[in-house]
Amino acid sequence: MKSLNKNVLVIIIVITMLFCCLMSSFCSVLSFKYNNPHGHEISDEEILIFPENFLWGAATASYQVEGGNVNSSWWRFEQEEGRIKNGDRTDGIINHYGRYEEDFDLASKLSLNSYRFSIEWSRIEPQKGEFDEKEIEHYRDVLQALKDRDIKPMVTLWHHSVPAWFEDLGGWERGENVDYYTEYVNYVVANLSEEVELWLTMNEPMAYITCGYVSAKWPPAKQDLTQVPGLFSNLTLAHKEAYSIIHEKDANAQVGIAEHSSYIVPYHEKNILENIIASTIDYAWVHYLIDIVKDELDFIGVHYYYKQSINLSLAKDVLTKDPEEIENQSLDRAYYPEGLYEVLLKYKRYEKPIYITEIGVPDYHEIDRNQFIREHVREMYYAIQDGVDVRGFYYWSLLDCFEWSEGYDAEFGLIDVNLETQERTIKDESWEYALIAGCNCVYNDEL
Ligand code: FCB
Repeated sequence: MKSLNKNVLVIIIVITMLFCCLMSSFCSVLSFKYNNPHGHEISDEEILIFPENFLWGAATASYQVEGGNVNSSWWRFEQEEGRIKNGDRTDGIINHYGRYEEDFDLASKLSLNSYRFSIEWSRIEPQKGEFDEKEIEHYRDVLQALKDRDIKPMVTLWHHSVPAWFEDLGGWERGENVDYYTEYVNYVVANLSEEVELWLTMNEPMAYITCGYVSAKWPPAKQDLTQVPGLFSNLTLAHKEAYSIIHEKDANAQVGIAEHSSYIVPYHEKNILENIIASTIDYAWVHYLIDIVKDELDFIGVHYYYKQSINLSLAKDVLTKDPEEIENQSLDRAYYPEGLYEVLLKYKRYEKPIYITEIGVPDYHEIDRNQFIREHVREMYYAIQDGVDVRGFYYWSLLDCFEWSEGYDAEFGLIDVNLETQERTIKDESWEYALIAGCNCVYNDEL
């Protein structure tokens, strides 16, 4: 009997080992396939032309440009010492709230035909259940100013900043709070839907979860991984509800969600573990969410900034190297235009229109912004040629602005804002984008 037990045990162990080997080879094959770059041919046309009615825009977010959003959770956060680099503040600095007409004149000068901006929930509903008509009127004026200049709006309903009262009630941690968001969405859509066709229900929910609850560098600044599953399900539910609300008001509206998508790759092409980690992070960070909400999506908003490499050989250096050196290497956030092509092809399987709702480079980066834009636009062209239905490109950002916990250190703007005088000047490095937007084409200098 004893020896029988022993044999059974051996058989179980062997079967388990075989099963694990099989599973790990299966995962490696899948992840190698997943990470394998498609690559593309280079066109022999001198000028690459985009589809008719393509949208060339720039993006902003209310909290980052408006100033004076005193009822937001971010307002409270920025007053706390040590939260924002250099102690930077938003009040009275950029003032897009007061100067939007001037900013749109400059957008017109840059030949932009679209503008993505967000509505500030904490202005519309400064206290629970109290909706401020004066503020909805402000956004109506903003939409009118865009219309006067033939600039098509894309409106984000929630871009990272929530009202302080909402955060105090537990924010997105509590399922029942989703109703507060839908009440706000109802109010905005009832008032503005006649002037808006393109809506984003929310911006980068995964970034919100990570920065608010994992790294804790954004409000509510809790390091609490146990909240992650609940946040995820509340946010996806909120998206679905907002989608229905918008469609009830306007059957022709186009509703999407904006997702952060870096190009995540193994640092060593042939390393099995790095391959598995890269494909798992890419799926968990981006595509899992899209899979959950794909029936409630008319389009997908894709944000692409850089390539990130998974480099396990760094792990063993952690104890021996200078922490700053490790930090620089492990971030490995590289400017990599070809990554945009690869990222876009990964979205092809959803068979939905795509808008690149953010892409950009800060002034401090050594790359010239003209070159950055030209090369990424070219990669987007090849993705379109290869069957991805990309319909618009929104540079981040129209203006230099408050870069969350980085304060004003990361200036991404096409337009420079003098932080003392608020004076606006189009940067020299933005004119190539104006040429691209103006001709709906890009020069193929790879020939
Ligand atoms: C994106 C955010 C946007 C801005 C840019 C640089 O992830 O959506 O608000 O901070 O990064």
